[in-house]
Amino acid sequence: MKAFGFSEYGDPSVFQEIEKDIKDPKPDQVQIENMAFGINPYDVLLRQGQFKGGRELKFPFVPGNDLVGKVVKIGENVKTFKVGDYVINYRPSGAYGEFVNASADKVVAKPATLSFLDAASLPTPGIAAYNAWHHFATITDDAVIGVVGATGLVGSLLVQLAKSLGHHVIGAASAKNADYAKWIGVDEFLAYDEAYDADRFDAQADVVFNATLGGHDNGLSDEIVKSNGQIILIANLDYPVKTDGVKVNHVDPTKGYSNLEALEFWTKLSATWGVSLRVENNLSFTLTDVIKAHELVEAHHSGKTVIQIEKRKRSSF
Ligand SMILES: NC(=O)c1ccc[n+]([C@@H]2O[C@H](COP(=O)([O-])OP(=O)(O)OC[C@H]3O[C@@H](n4cnc5c(N)ncnc54)[C@H](OP(=O)(O)O)[C@@H]3O)[C@@H](O)[C@H]2O)c1
Repeated sequence: MKAFGFSEYGDPSVFQEIEKDIKDPKPDQVQIENMAFGINPYDVLLRQGQFKGGRELKFPFVPGNDLVGKVVKIGENVKTFKVGDYVINYRPSGAYGEFVNASADKVVAKPATLSFLDAASLPTPGIAAYNAWHHFATITDDAVIGVVGATGLVGSLLVQLAKSLGHHVIGAASAKNADYAKWIGVDEFLAYDEAYDADRFDAQADVVFNATLGGHDNGLSDEIVKSNGQIILIANLDYPVKTDGVKVNHVDPTKGYSNLEALEFWTKLSATWGVSLRVENNLSFTLTDVIKAHELVEAHHSGKTVIQIEKRKRSSF
């Protein structure tokens, strides 16, 4: 099978096409024919060698955590899926390849309500958003929710989660993304790159999720949060919080939380309420496009970048 990976750390040009064998699935595994996979900032950091010393890679290394595909073979113990099912898989690596074997308990069914491109984008930001909400925040039914970075991958999922539960949502992003923010449900939009009415937003949110890149929000989370409220950090915070009594929680990746529970939450929400991800770049399964995808993510191009393997018209994908 064809895959894309690298045998040395470096810039996107280290990618090469790799021919790999695919073994039959083990008794508890399914074999998935990959239809599309999402590119994550994490893939870029791995390729750059930023985790050298922490996570040692075996070269040639095929990255990729998030994919959607079709089950083509099942192991003898698997009862939960059958050949032909469309599934979403979150995995440690290997999603940049045509086929993968995955434990059946690391796979969820793709709901018909979620497009293939959205499904390929969901796992990594979905797990981060789910964990932030369920494991790091304490949220009362009437809490006003602030999402700083409301139009990003993680932030937009948090907005949709909050709206599905009936919360009032204050969302911040740049002015050019105001329509998208309102479309996913933001009730009050704050454009961080324009003058805004500070009185309207100051100390208004019980819980603020900071989902900006690297946590850089120029103090906005601290501005929006109420005294004794909470700030939940998806990344970091580069300033001391001044508002009284605020509890700051950092979303640490941990093996203690179930990735499957998070994915099942989103697939269920997609079927009952609707979930949308902002896929901006739909590229093809070629070396040129894999390199381009990494360049886009490295340049912090907004919206999700997905590589589509199966050749269907985008309207049906
Ligand atoms: N993506 C993932 O799967 C994932 C998973 C775990 C953790 N993380 C971490 O979570 C953070 C967010 O990731 P992401 O992929 O969701 O990022 P993203 O898609 O780039 O979104 C960033 C968001 O922050 C907004 N923003 C930028 N500067 C801002 C400012 N000064 N004030 C307010 N909002 C601002 C952006 O709005 P505009 O685009 O309108 O400027 C956008 O809505 C990153 O640090 C990432 O490493 C991400």
